[in-house]
Amino acid sequence: MKILRLISLLMLMLPLAAGAQNKEAELLKEAQGLFEPIDKPPVKITDNEITPAKIELGKQLYFDPRLSSSGLISCNTCHNLGLGGDDGLPVAIGHDWKKGPRNSPTVFNSVFNAAQFWDGRAADLKEQAKGPIQAGVEMNSTPELVVATLKSIPGYREPFAKAFGKGDVITFDNVARAIEAFEATLITPDSAFDHYLKGDQSALNEQQKRGLKTFIDQSCASCHNGVNLGGQNYFPFGLVEKPEAKLLPPGDKGRFAITNTEGDDYVFRASSLRNIAITAPYFHTGQIRDLRDAIAIMATTQLGAKMNDKDIDDVAAFLQTLTGKKPTVSYPDLPPSTAKTPVPVQ
Ligand code: HEC
Ligand code: HEC
Repeated sequence: MKILRLISLLMLMLPLAAGAQNKEAELLKEAQGLFEPIDKPPVKITDNEITPAKIELGKQLYFDPRLSSSGLISCNTCHNLGLGGDDGLPVAIGHDWKKGPRNSPTVFNSVFNAAQFWDGRAADLKEQAKGPIQAGVEMNSTPELVVATLKSIPGYREPFAKAFGKGDVITFDNVARAIEAFEATLITPDSAFDHYLKGDQSALNEQQKRGLKTFIDQSCASCHNGVNLGGQNYFPFGLVEKPEAKLLPPGDKGRFAITNTEGDDYVFRASSLRNIAITAPYFHTGQIRDLRDAIAIMATTQLGAKMNDKDIDDVAAFLQTLTGKKPTVSYPDLPPSTAKTPVPVQ
């Protein structure tokens, strides 16, 4: 009798288990339709063939503070590869301890973004790299000073020749190209979510899967999708409800400054959410340190939704699964300056 009851109970449970399994499979399928795993590149990069010599030179330049007029600030100062590819500060601090207007985004996986900067004003990484070198609040240099500095360092001749061939190859354009080549290697595959997207359902736990489902059902994925879960399109920050001025100061109108088009005021690129758990503080103003607060703010400002604590915890747990494996970057040997090297300006 007992056995019979047990069997009938099991029979009852079987379809339930099958139903749960179907739901799991459905969620995976839905996720695979919206997001893509990070695989090794092939990454398409225009007008810049990526070669080992370029990558190596780009790494030197990325770490070389002599690209700044003070001789003190390198790309790695604000995009620290030991941290999350950023600086962990609300807004960047550059030349003369000046504060810039915006938070430093991570360089990791930036090669997958459709365009660079919070407002997408640079089409690609080589165009982007020229910006900070010249920005007064960042490295405060000029193309002429950078080229003069590099030409004064004999140890840079060979790396440039290997990367770009013979002739006058120590140019500002080639500096940007080499840096772009190095940045293309700064990708973080192998996150739990990548494994999940490739079909390993056990890569996410129950809470993380619930968070993924909420992320999709709440329409976060309508703006944060693709390989970087963002980085592709532009939206008003405050689509439904304007964020407080601390998060959206009236003076920074985002894409409007580039397009001068009315609908573009306070429009920003939907951020990539890759490695988001290790790149606080959040938003272009860097005023939010807790990922849970950032999620709640997105729900109200972008969706007009109020998420409860449990949903927020679940989404935060899901976002944790986007932390990938950072590349191992050995610190490059930087060739010594000479008496001819321009004197740093402090
Ligand atoms: C003083 C700090 C600072 C330095 C130095 C600096 N950056 Fe940045 N970087 C920033 C800030 C701030 C932004 C965002 C600016 C904006 O959107 O207006 C940014 C944006 C970027 C982005 C765009 C990422 C994205 O998701 O859009 C890349 C890539 C980048 N920097 C690479 C570099 C490289 C390469 C160098 C060295 C040549 C460099 N940065 C030097 C602070 C810095
Ligand atoms: C209508 C488009 C849109 C929707 C929907 C949306 N976001 Fe965003 N998200 C953005 C934009 C634009 C930004 C950049 C805001 C800024 O300028 O600081 C952003 C930024 C973020 C950031 C901060 C990223 C960083 O590096 O600082 C997080 C976290 C985030 N979104 C998560 C979410 C979550 C979770 C949801 C769903 C509850 C969501 N977003 C819904 C467009 C959207």
